Amino acid sequence: MSKYEQLVETKTFLQENGIGHIDFGMILGSGLGELAGEVKNPLIFDYKDIPNFPVSTVVGHAGRLVYGELEGKQVLIMDGRFHYYEGYDMETVTFPIRLMKLLDVETIIVTNSAGGANPTFEPGDLMIITDQINYTGTNPLIGPNDERFGPRFPDMSHAYHEYGQEVVRKAAKELNINIKEGVYMGYSGPTYETPAEIRFTQAIGGDAVGMSTVPEVIVANHAGIKVIGISCITNLAAGMQANLNHEEVVETTQRVKEVFKSLVRKVLVLY
Ligand code: HPA
Repeated sequence: MSKYEQLVETKTFLQENGIGHIDFGMILGSGLGELAGEVKNPLIFDYKDIPNFPVSTVVGHAGRLVYGELEGKQVLIMDGRFHYYEGYDMETVTFPIRLMKLLDVETIIVTNSAGGANPTFEPGDLMIITDQINYTGTNPLIGPNDERFGPRFPDMSHAYHEYGQEVVRKAAKELNINIKEGVYMGYSGPTYETPAEIRFTQAIGGDAVGMSTVPEVIVANHAGIKVIGISCITNLAAGMQANLNHEEVVETTQRVKEVFKSLVRKVLVLY
């Protein structure tokens, strides 16, 4: 079966099991998945129960698809994403985005935890992603292009939709959140960066670094899906603090999750 046929099979399964109109697709990063549990009248699908769906391996990633209502909008939430560093190929990493395309999703909200490379950022800050740098060393669109998904040479001039950024700005203002803005630079991971890599990031205009999001946003743009991106700055990037560890990342997402959730909810209301 071709990838396209697999996706059609997955989409058909989901539609036959109750997934209808979707206002927003959402991909929640590590530690930021609680919103999925707050969806009203949810339909919940464990990834392992969905035909052709990859299964997530990282601790802290639940691995379920949640459909239902949030702030009066119909949302389809991917609670747990697939990372390149887990060993999935890029086609697998971005499978959910293409699925969303087939489900007629027009706008997605992607979130992640990230290290702050911009010296004005502090752990716990939220950042509107205004643009990205693909430093993963590859590109999910390498290979034959299937025109059913999008064009051979997609325009990335507006990778993060301007109106979406504006809505996040407005939502933050209404909630008195001092939101930051910046460029997300995607590394492959799973190592955190070296201090030299962070100096490089700063020199070329990156404000935050992480190990996700970039492939999904490329495939979303290919498919003509509008993207809203929000990073939770969980730590200062390498060389800007003594050491890095996953525990700090988890701690910070726990600390800011209420603010984060209220921001995403407000975005749904205002969009
Ligand atoms: N680097 C890469 N990914 C991350 C970081 C970081 O400092 N923090 C959270 N995710």
